[in-house]
Amino acid sequence: EVPQPGLVDPPKIIAHRGANDRFNEHTLTAYKIAANDGVDALEIDLRMTKDDVLIAMHDETIDRTTNGEGEPEHYTIEEMKEYETVEVFNQKESEEEIPTLVEILDTFGTSEHYYIETRLVDGATEMEEPLINYLNMYDLVEKSLVTIQSFSQASLEKIQQLEDDIPLTLLYKKGNFELEEAIAVSYPIIGMESTDVTVTNVNQLHRAGKEVHVYFTNPSSQREEQKRVHELNVDGFFTDDILFTKELIAGN
Ligand code: G3P
Ligand code: CA
Repeated sequence: EVPQPGLVDPPKIIAHRGANDRFNEHTLTAYKIAANDGVDALEIDLRMTKDDVLIAMHDETIDRTTNGEGEPEHYTIEEMKEYETVEVFNQKESEEEIPTLVEILDTFGTSEHYYIETRLVDGATEMEEPLINYLNMYDLVEKSLVTIQSFSQASLEKIQQLEDDIPLTLLYKKGNFELEEAIAVSYPIIGMESTDVTVTNVNQLHRAGKEVHVYFTNPSSQREEQKRVHELNVDGFFTDDILFTKELIAGN
């Protein structure tokens, strides 16, 4: 099977957790570096504190990315701000705190596109309503400056009920991609891990009118994988290596 043209050309460069190769992931500095690189979107994973504040955080606990430990939902935002983020690769502390969603939106306003992931705790869909309220407060939905992604269809359904004007991405975990389901769902974008990206999967999704956005979980093969999926004409890269992806797409 031969790769068919993609739906988005050039494909989108999505700064996964900010420029996480050059600064602590999910910090304002990491997002500023990415914005300065001229990416198409800033990727933000969202979690909620005990007092219902939305913060940028990937993991179920703050152990890996900060000098604290435990689940974010067990801390108030004031307690959370006491901790400092760490450089994941060398475990060095920085003076930079965990940002709230509002701090990120205050920093970039309408100058960036936000690609936000709802991360659920025990399947609870609690963050969708406050999230939509903030996005509307900053005029981001009206200006088409937001995409929402989730591994949870319950979360995406809730978003759809609250606001039907936001492009939604259904994510699949590595090894769990299901082509028939991905074609059948109503969401216009499908996100999957690079090793699940095959010429058949991409072509079939494109035929169904769906964009394919790809994330990468193996740092040592990421460049190789980016090259491979680029040849299959995927529509978006959740990249951990922004400068490389820019060069790749520019054809250098
Ligand atoms: O959002 C795309 C990608 O970020 C999904 O994987 O675990 O890095 O959030 P993860
Ligand atoms: Ca994510």
